[in-house]
Amino acid sequence: MLVDRFNRKITNLRISITSRCNLNCFYCHREGYDASNELTPDEIAEIAKAFKELGVEKLKITGGEPLVRQDIVEIIEKLPEFREISMTTNGIRLSEIAHDLKEAGLDRVNVSLDTLDEKKYSYATRGGRIGKVVSGIETAVDAELTPVKLNMVLIEGFNTDEVDRMVEFAKQFKGDVIVQFIELVSLNYNGEGHFDVYSLINKFEKDAREVRIRNMQRRKQFVFDNYAVEFVKPVDNSEFCMACNRIRVTADGKIKPCLMRNDNLVDIRGLRGEDLKKAIVEALSLREPFYRG
Ligand code: 5AD
Repeated sequence: MLVDRFNRKITNLRISITSRCNLNCFYCHREGYDASNELTPDEIAEIAKAFKELGVEKLKITGGEPLVRQDIVEIIEKLPEFREISMTTNGIRLSEIAHDLKEAGLDRVNVSLDTLDEKKYSYATRGGRIGKVVSGIETAVDAELTPVKLNMVLIEGFNTDEVDRMVEFAKQFKGDVIVQFIELVSLNYNGEGHFDVYSLINKFEKDAREVRIRNMQRRKQFVFDNYAVEFVKPVDNSEFCMACNRIRVTADGKIKPCLMRNDNLVDIRGLRGEDLKKAIVEALSLREPFYRG
């Protein structure tokens, strides 16, 4: 079991497999890091295997946009088994490939969807077509890549008036689709577009049938009769950081101990077996909470 200096267990791994994307969202924090030399399916499998042997239970494939890789089905096929393998995607290519992904071993998907308005979607993503995303979600539900989580980043003046609409949209899938409200991580730290997520959390808290606190970063999930919503509130939240159980690998094979920083990456490319595991354990010593109480 991997544990860092702050006694945080590392149970979740996120591997970025590309920093390319077929959209260009105005607020994107570019999690995949700027990587031109992408890991091969075998390298991805080797890294996943090392983390698995060190006790990681859940794996998420991220980008950029993972589905722009032509070899995405091969990548999923080669992964070792985990308790859960999921993917974050913008959903544009999902309807073409959802069933193949399920067959290859993918358990579920997160789909980024900040608005249900066609024009706003096209504006926010610089040209994306929302119809493709909606049919992607429908196909993912059909392929049982469930629960499908809809990532809605809340941005003041852009989509905060669409909260109810998004919940209604999710409800029609009778529990197979969960809305996940995400606090905007500001790129320039001037607070522009920031929305007080707490006001919304309080509103859901009053009406929910059940409130669950997930181990994962102490995220709150509110359960209703036919649906559920979840909140990701990372900004200035020391509780979130203290309960962080994830570690990232960039698209070119560097361990990234924290989403918020790019100054402590550790290159693990080309390492195998025991050497790889040793490098992973070493990299974890760089892991520290970004926000502290
Ligand atoms: N703030 C919060 N979340 C972001 N994402 C990307 N950029 C930001 C940001 N600035 C997340 C969203 C999106 C996923 C791909 O990355 O959840 O769905």
